[in-house]
Amino acid sequence: MIDVVCIGQAVLDCITRGKESSPYRPNVYRAESIRLHTGGDAVNESMALAGMGFQTAIVCGLGWDIAGNLIENELARAGVNTAGIRRIEGMDTPIANLQVAKDGSRISVNSGATRLPGYRILPEEIPEASIVSFASLFRPPLEDYSALRELILAAREKGAVICADTKLPLTDTVLLENLKEVLPLIDYIFPNEKEAAYYSQKETFPEMAAEFRRLGIRNVIIKTGAEGCFVSGQKGEFCLPAVPVSDVVDTTGAGDNFVAGFLSGILRSCSLKDCASLGLEQAARSITHTGGGTTL
Ligand SMILES: Nc1ncnc2c1ncn2[C@@H]1O[C@H](COP(=O)(O)OP(=O)(O)OP(=O)(O)O)[C@@H](O)[C@H]1O
Ligand SMILES: [Mg+2]
Repeated sequence: MIDVVCIGQAVLDCITRGKESSPYRPNVYRAESIRLHTGGDAVNESMALAGMGFQTAIVCGLGWDIAGNLIENELARAGVNTAGIRRIEGMDTPIANLQVAKDGSRISVNSGATRLPGYRILPEEIPEASIVSFASLFRPPLEDYSALRELILAAREKGAVICADTKLPLTDTVLLENLKEVLPLIDYIFPNEKEAAYYSQKETFPEMAAEFRRLGIRNVIIKTGAEGCFVSGQKGEFCLPAVPVSDVVDTTGAGDNFVAGFLSGILRSCSLKDCASLGLEQAARSITHTGGGTTL
């Protein structure tokens, strides 16, 4: 039996740190390090859960290319069930090019590959699991309303607890109302504060959460970065502070790790507060190293 299936993005991150121009040659640069990391919401979340010892599966799309091979190998090495990976002929596996300067400033370069052209998940690709986690609603491969409705319904028909993280839309305006038939099937939603404000059109955390809950979502967990989180559920409403981290290296994937920690609490039948604490602890662990997943 699978504990959690994570559905969403798989990306290879190429991270360059401490780039400096050479005093001798204008078009040559040196860097402190250039490393490949696995990334993407579904990869980060599934690897974190597999690392905690849970039976974890992933549903994602990869191209038939070197980046796809690396990601699939790393997932398998981490113990993630990779049967739900679909390799797509003619599609590039998304590679994100990230540059972190010595002063901490960042440049990120993406291509159209992040839109996953040619990959749409089919309801029958979702395996039976205790939890189905939509690693980011409203971003490819989970941005099409009608496909999302079908996938959420399919997950519910299989009896899973349904969890969903969010991202801001890339281009078009997204209205939660367009998913109103299936929102009451979502047990837990995990927007960060910007996403919660965008999708609810409200200003304070209690108002944002109330709007999600008015639409039928049972438990709303708003991730508030270095502050921690705000939680509003059937059994109460509270804020929890983040676990203090003195040596923050990189917060990429902190949100995905928060969700993984929280889901580990659901699997252990913990209270809402204990689930949130497990999320904060896992997120804090993840920000002490570069990248959201592992380094190759
Ligand atoms: N500076 C920090 N110190 C301690 N914990 C942090 C810090 N930054 C983030 N976190 C932890 O990470 C969690 C998730 O971070 P955040 O609110 O930025 O989510 P997110 O925007 O969804 O992240 P992501 O970039 O992965 O999408 C927070 O709820 C908190 O627990
Ligand atoms: Mg996030």
